[in-house]
Amino acid sequence: MLSLLQVLVIFATNKQVMQKNISLKNYNTFGIDVKADWLAKIESEEQLLTIIDDLPDMPKLILGGGSNVLFLQDFKGIVLHNEIKGISTIDEDDKYIRLYVKGGENWHDLVMWTVNNNYGGIENLALIPGKTGTAPIQNIGAYGVEIKDVVTKVHTIDMQNGTPKTFDNKACEFGYRQSVFKKPENKGKYFINAIEIKLQKKGYRLNTKYGAIQQVLIEKKIDIPTIKDVAEAVMQIRRSKLPDPKQTGNAGSFFKNPFIKRSQLNYLQQYYPDIPFYPTQDTHIFKIPAGWLIDQAGWKGKRFGNVGVHPAQALVLVNYGGAKGIEIKNLAERITEDIFQKFGIYLHPEVNYI
Ligand code: FAD
Ligand code: EPU
Repeated sequence: MLSLLQVLVIFATNKQVMQKNISLKNYNTFGIDVKADWLAKIESEEQLLTIIDDLPDMPKLILGGGSNVLFLQDFKGIVLHNEIKGISTIDEDDKYIRLYVKGGENWHDLVMWTVNNNYGGIENLALIPGKTGTAPIQNIGAYGVEIKDVVTKVHTIDMQNGTPKTFDNKACEFGYRQSVFKKPENKGKYFINAIEIKLQKKGYRLNTKYGAIQQVLIEKKIDIPTIKDVAEAVMQIRRSKLPDPKQTGNAGSFFKNPFIKRSQLNYLQQYYPDIPFYPTQDTHIFKIPAGWLIDQAGWKGKRFGNVGVHPAQALVLVNYGGAKGIEIKNLAERITEDIFQKFGIYLHPEVNYI
């Protein structure tokens, strides 16, 4: 292991933007106050390669917007805060445009940039926090669209040896809140430095199948919506349900929605005739909203000291201020156990424990 002095010399030499012994409170949307030994702002691929070369043995954590992590302890190593920016056009024709977007770009800003240019494809993903480079990891999704629908390539840098590797859409192995990058064996293995997305310019069919979107459009008396109308409807719905992390610490949905077999659904329907369910490509498997299960089990709006279950969306766990990561993890575990006891369904966290 390198001494503190050696690390300081490395960074003085490489002119990295470095901070030592820093609180991560403002770097995670749960607002958990843990410390990192070091935090480096990564503004270019070259900076990242220097760190990989110079500090091969130091534990490293890649961090985007911190909107899908729960810190359980201080991080003994170096946090690499992805700030690699840039949006450029690869090619375009009458119908399509392909963009090369660096991973440190804010996702929502990218969505609004495409909306304002009238490029269709990611407007339903407005207001999802975090960075563009993180978006493929759990295949972000909302209101009938997932990023897998537009991603053509994901560019990465191997964290062990600095070699570049590109994954095409198939190689990303996208699924519901899942990709090759989320597999346990790949955790921390690849730094996503850029993605390529293909958006539509002409003949674009908006995705308004979600009832809530339709309802907003009707309320606003919009018969023929534009890309911008859909983005605005999505933002309105999200603001009404999800807490703003600037006000109340949270990481969006804490759990993934579970999948169950038809036989289990039929069994549960005897006791809960109103249980909501969504069909999947497999006619025997159904997705159940975890928020409904948690709500039904009586957890919604419950507060336990610094932590609680959001009053408007039971899938969102919140830090009311000053919570430790372990308090949120403990609450999540109590909920998981209760849901298993009541429904025989096991909930898996969507949030990454660090
Ligand atoms: P971080 O929390 O910084 O990182 C998440 C994980 O990815 C960590 O393990 C980290 O080490 C790793 N990582 C980060 N960047 C990289 C990189 N460049 N290369 C390799 N690994 C990396 N998600 C949805 O899918 N749909 C939603 O509708 C949605 N709504 C949300 C609403 C709110 C209010 C909040 C707070 C969160 C919501 N999320 C949603 C979850 C979250 O915004 C997404 O998962 C987002 O993509 C996380 O991005 P981030 O940059 O903040 O990731
Ligand atoms: N519901 C309740 N009570 C609640 C919450 C939900 O009964 O407190 C029921 C309602 O019946 C509702 C259904 O659950 O119709 C689904 O709720 P909602 O439309 O809010 O969606 P969700 O399944 O809870 C998912 C994603 C969100 C995404 C929305 C919109 C997951 C884990 N979550 O939430 O993603 O924004 O759909 O598409 O898939 C995230 O991943 O962080 C996230 C916020």
